[in-house]
Amino acid sequence: MQKRPRTSSANTFTVTAKTILGLEEILAEEIRQQGGSDIEIIHRGVQFSSTQETLYACNYNCRTALRLLKPLWEFSARDDTELYRKCLKLPWDTLMGLDNTFAIDGAVFNSGITHSMYAALKTKDAIADSFRAKFGKRPSVDTDYPDMRFNVHINRNHCTISLDSSGSSLHLRGYKIAPGPAPLSEVLASGLIMLSGWDKKKTFVDPMCGSGTLLIEAAMIANDIPPGYYRNGFGFEKWKDFDAAIWKDVKERSKPAEEASSVRIVGGDMSSLAMRTTRKNISSAGLERSISLHPTSFEKLKRPPGDVHIVMNPPYGERVKSDDIIGLYQMIGDTLKQNYQNAEAWIIGGDLRAMKFIGLRPSKKIRIFNGPIECRFMKFELYEGSRKHKNSIEA
Ligand SMILES: C[S@@+](CC[C@H](N)C(=O)[O-])C[C@H]1O[C@@H](n2cnc3c(N)ncnc32)[C@H](O)[C@@H]1O
Repeated sequence: MQKRPRTSSANTFTVTAKTILGLEEILAEEIRQQGGSDIEIIHRGVQFSSTQETLYACNYNCRTALRLLKPLWEFSARDDTELYRKCLKLPWDTLMGLDNTFAIDGAVFNSGITHSMYAALKTKDAIADSFRAKFGKRPSVDTDYPDMRFNVHINRNHCTISLDSSGSSLHLRGYKIAPGPAPLSEVLASGLIMLSGWDKKKTFVDPMCGSGTLLIEAAMIANDIPPGYYRNGFGFEKWKDFDAAIWKDVKERSKPAEEASSVRIVGGDMSSLAMRTTRKNISSAGLERSISLHPTSFEKLKRPPGDVHIVMNPPYGERVKSDDIIGLYQMIGDTLKQNYQNAEAWIIGGDLRAMKFIGLRPSKKIRIFNGPIECRFMKFELYEGSRKHKNSIEA
């Protein structure tokens, strides 16, 4: 994407959208569709020019955004004393009152201030002291459900203070009432489905569905349900300049499709606990009619009729223990080869050695992170006579 000078006027301002490493391009396209301009891809994020309306729309509609930050102030701070001194002078009371609660997220890189927590603490002290000096009282901190969430980002002593327009992270969609042992982030699940190029027509299959994240995200995509549809609220709703009319309008324009999609979404898992968990989450999202579940192992799952698009997240040792991880990946390869001819299968895994034992040649490999775990998202095109390859994958 081309880098152009970003414009700011009375109505537009810069926004930094954060995402998972590997999903930047997808997020940039989502932001463009919501009206963002001057879009620039950065490390784990996207910067763009936004209006208030675009900011609300991105929070509500971008499936791959984790947070959308509105930068307020930038200055240099070599150490915690300078950070505190400069923060003390900022006009915090133009953004919030004594009745508001607040929280600070810190992120520090290559800086004289060594800890993110410490930067957050110093900023919190400065906010409290600036209110005390002016009003004799200070607003309270609430780290869980603050009215205002600020972000302090320091890189090479350059400090940016932003307002977090999302509030809680946008992966918290609001439908997941039962998490399961190793769930994918909703943002990652959505991003993987989009990266896989699912056409919303082929039957979507996740044969190892765990808590059902891929299935639910796929059903939301198929039915045009905005990712923010089930959420309780967003940070910007507490801002002084919050415009309820614009917000109403954004939600009105982003309504789910009136007619439910006829595409089939099929999930399976050999664990009865996983099946119960998935069922709870699907029903919390009201998507029972879109998704069918099969409590069985991948080997025994009956292939659905018609064209099939598989996206799956098998266990990979670090987060889910499997007695025989090599055998599991060999079985995945064998099952794909035998039962899924002419289908497309995408597999995300963090155990690159185990993935070699799928024994099929991937036609695409995408590097992506699942939390701190570096993974590969691999595409397998299965056609009649797909042959198993020995050691065919250099991870
Ligand atoms: C990493 S978890 C999937 C997490 C899921 N993507 C989520 O967001 O919750 C892997 C799942 O594979 C299931 N599993 C392992 N071996 C299986 C097999 N042979 N057939 C079907 N499911 C299996 C496990 O029970 C577990 O729920």
